This record gives sequence, structure tokens and C-alpha cells, in this order.
Amino acid sequence: MMYALPEKTLMQLSEFISSNLALHFPKERWDDLERNIISASKEFGYKDAEIFIQHIISSPLTKEHVEILASNLTINETYFWREPQTFDALEQKIIPELIQQRQNGERRLRIWSAGCSTGEEPYSIAIALKRLIPNIKNWNISILATDISPRILHKAKIGIYGQWSFRNTPEWLKQNYFVQKPNNKFEIIPEIKSMVKFEYLNLAEDIYPLSLNDTNAMDIIYCRNVLMYFTQDRFRQVAHSLFNSLVMGGYLIVSASELSLQNFSEFTPVNIPDMVLYQKTSKNIKDWFKFSIMESEPKPFFIKTAPKPEPSKLAIEIFNAEENNKKIAPINEKTLRTVSQENCTNVTDKLQKDTQTLDEQILLIRNFANEGKFLEAIELCKKVIASEKLEPGLHYLYATILQEDNKLDEAVESLKRSIYLDPNFVLAHYSLGKIYQRLGNIKNTNKCNENVLTILNKCSQDEILFESEGLTAGRLKEIISASNQKRVLS
Ligand SMILES: C[S@@+](CC[C@H](N)C(=O)[O-])C[C@H]1O[C@@H](n2cnc3c(N)ncnc32)[C@H](O)[C@@H]1O
Repeated sequence: MMYALPEKTLMQLSEFISSNLALHFPKERWDDLERNIISASKEFGYKDAEIFIQHIISSPLTKEHVEILASNLTINETYFWREPQTFDALEQKIIPELIQQRQNGERRLRIWSAGCSTGEEPYSIAIALKRLIPNIKNWNISILATDISPRILHKAKIGIYGQWSFRNTPEWLKQNYFVQKPNNKFEIIPEIKSMVKFEYLNLAEDIYPLSLNDTNAMDIIYCRNVLMYFTQDRFRQVAHSLFNSLVMGGYLIVSASELSLQNFSEFTPVNIPDMVLYQKTSKNIKDWFKFSIMESEPKPFFIKTAPKPEPSKLAIEIFNAEENNKKIAPINEKTLRTVSQENCTNVTDKLQKDTQTLDEQILLIRNFANEGKFLEAIELCKKVIASEKLEPGLHYLYATILQEDNKLDEAVESLKRSIYLDPNFVLAHYSLGKIYQRLGNIKNTNKCNENVLTILNKCSQDEILFESEGLTAGRLKEIISASNQKRVLS
């Protein structure tokens, strides 16, 4: 194969991006690498791609530049109803199953399109739901769409597409869900647009599941054509975190080229015509414990973030006790927070039988929320707040659960209470701003964002924020800056 760039340069570049961006470009994919780096160099304002490569290899890059680079190297290639068999699976199996389960209980569905690019994937999901659920207004539906590239997210939010986004797309989709605009462009109808919430999130770097970024208790996660670019370690780490973001019984959908027994060993593969789904089932929980306990988390790659917790003593204790059919010792309070992040159903069962301290009750509330049991979480939270009215963290926790249950007005009241009790509670201001943004209240959104930045500017970069489950002040600043950014930096 002939390349426009010298092979030595491509070799240096692939080694650099493997160790710095955790992206994997073996020699067989150097043609992709070359094409993408040439396009990235133009975006960064360089005429000569080789000079650009030498520049990124030799000088430290800012976080924003690294993320722009990562998004360029992984291409934003996407279109509506891509890999139609995944939408057939959604329409014929997953959604009917969920509707049946929830028809008489909580009518709630939580879906995440991770690595959503310009929005064709999450809007296709929204269209599938609209087609399938006749009384959709009676359902509480949340479709979260995230990507690493602010520029791409900006395009997705606008929701106007050219013909290229409809290649291989059934004709009915464009006819029923788009309006024609000048220059042969098509705009998604407001009803579908309003179903999707776009947010900035770096899958390789950020913490999830987390209530703060709404990545917990997912019924379905689409993560297609993203993982294939990651190195093996990063792939497994992301697959593990996605597993934790699902409720029991939830499904992960990846593209056909990303299927892997080894990387998705925690999931149960479900074979359906023309594709394989990955399901989180209780029979995998033991394997998951083994995985959590034995595997050390790979280190985040390009910036310093809060460390992810090690598997707690309690997780190990429960795993060993289950293995040996022994009684589990009383819970050590110090381990409670760590266990919460591990989404441990066994801990929930144990706590439900024997919950005494405030920390235990808070853990139980979090676990209910992570497992998608919002009514139980809300009830217990109300009960605990009744006896602990002056705890700002409790009002904040209550607000995050109310938001997940789409009760935005009540969440606003609760956040105001937590800010009243602790005016420097940065995540309460941040969450309040996010709700105002969803409600279209620009003035209040800006006010909250100002408060957040004022408080963050007083914190050190590495300070772990109160009630954040590990988010640092520095990372929150970066997230805010990326979320506000519309265009690529020159
Ligand atoms: C090929 S597109 C896939 C779009 C869609 N999922 C599909 O299959 O049609 C890959 C997307 O992943 C995004 N991406 C790459 N690295 C990422 C990361 N670390 N975190 C989040 N998104 C990432 C890119 O910006 C790009 O939009």
C-alpha cells in the first residue's frame, strides 16, 4: 500500500495515539489513520500534515485539542437507521418486552446513545419509540446522547441534515419525521427532537454510571462504531462501565464488527436474527464480581481525574461468602460509598433487610436509583429527609432522583433547599442550571453557571467535589467549557 505520508511518520503517529489517546491503529488501518490525520490537520489550521504530526508528538496538547483529535481519528460517519437489524431488534424484541414489563408499573424507559456523532442514531431511536408506543405521552422516556466532540454535538442539536445522512435509510423515515428545508436539507420534527438530550461525555475518561451525568439505570445502551477504535484495555474498561450503567436485564447494542466474547465477558449474549445483543443478567453477576476484584482499572489516559475506587472489601467479602455459602459480616460503613458505585444488587438486598445508619440509608437510596427503582428511591429519600432536614447532600440526592424521574419542578425546589443550606454546594448550582436549561430559562441558567464557575475558581484542580462520586473541580471546569463550545478551536 502506498501512503502520502512516510511510513516512519505513520508508525510514530500510531504509537503516539495508542499511548496517549488509547486509540488503536494497527498497520492494516494506516490508510484510515492517514486520511483522518490529514483532515484533522486542516481542522487545526495546518497546511502540511507532517508538520502537524511532528507538532502533536513533540509538544504537550491541551485537553480540548486531544479530544478534537480523538473525534477526528474515530470519524463521525453515521446515518439514519444504520444497521437496520439493530432497529428491528428494538422494535420486535426489546421495546415490546419492556412495555409489557412496565405496562402496569412505572412507565419509564431510559436509553443512551454513547458516541452519538451528529445525532442520526439517537433520533432514529426516538423515531422507533414513537412508532412503537401508541400512548407515548404517558411514558417517561429519556434518551441521552453523548459524544466527545462539542462541534458534532452542536450539529446534532440543530437537527438539520443533508441527503447523505439518509443513505440506506427507508423512505418512510424522511417522509414522516422531517420537514424539507432550502438547499435539499431536512429538519427533524420538533416532537422527535425534543425527545433527545445531547451532552458532552468522554467515554474513555469520564466517570459513569453517575447520577450527575444521568448515565445510570439505563434500559438500553447503543454504543456502536466507537469501541472498535479503542485499545484492548480501554475497550474492556469502557465495556465494564457500560455494564454498570445498565439496570438488570438491560441491553447493550454494539455494531457487528465490535462483537467480542472476551471484551463483553460480563454480559450474556442473546442471539437474534442477524445480530447479537448483550444483556446484563443476574447470572453474570458472579463473573462481574470476579472481574471487579481481579482486574485492576486501566489508568485514565491523557489527564488526571479522580481515581476510580478499588473493589471494596465488602464486594470481595460478599463474593467470597457467596462462593463459600457463608454468612456475610456486618457492613463496614467506610466501604459503603465504594460499593454504591459498583451497583451491587446483593448489597441492596442486604440493606433492605437491615438498614440502620444514615450512610446505609443513603447507599440504599442510591442503589435503588441505580437499579431503576425510582419510586422506592423517592419514598426512602422522603423518609430520611423528614428526620435529617438540614443535610444539603440529602436534598441534592433527592433532586437527582426526581430529575431521573422527570419531575423537574420538584427537583428545582429540592436543589434550592440544598443551596440554601450550603451556598457553596457547586453540584447543586450545576444541576439547577442544567434543569433551567432544559426548561428553556436562559436567564436562570446563566446565573447558575456563573455561580458554578465562581465556586470552582476557588477550588484546587484536584479537589473532589462534594457529593460528586469522584468528579474533580478541574474536570467539571473542562466539561463546562466543552459543553459551551460550539466550534472547533483554531
Ligand atoms: C463512527 S461515529 C459512530 C456514530 C454512531 N454511534 C453510529 O454508529 O452511527 C463515532 C463517534 O464516536 C465519538 N467518539 C470517539 N471517541 C470518543 C470518546 N472517547 N468518547 C465519546 N465519544 C467518542 C466520535 O466523536 C464520533 O462521533
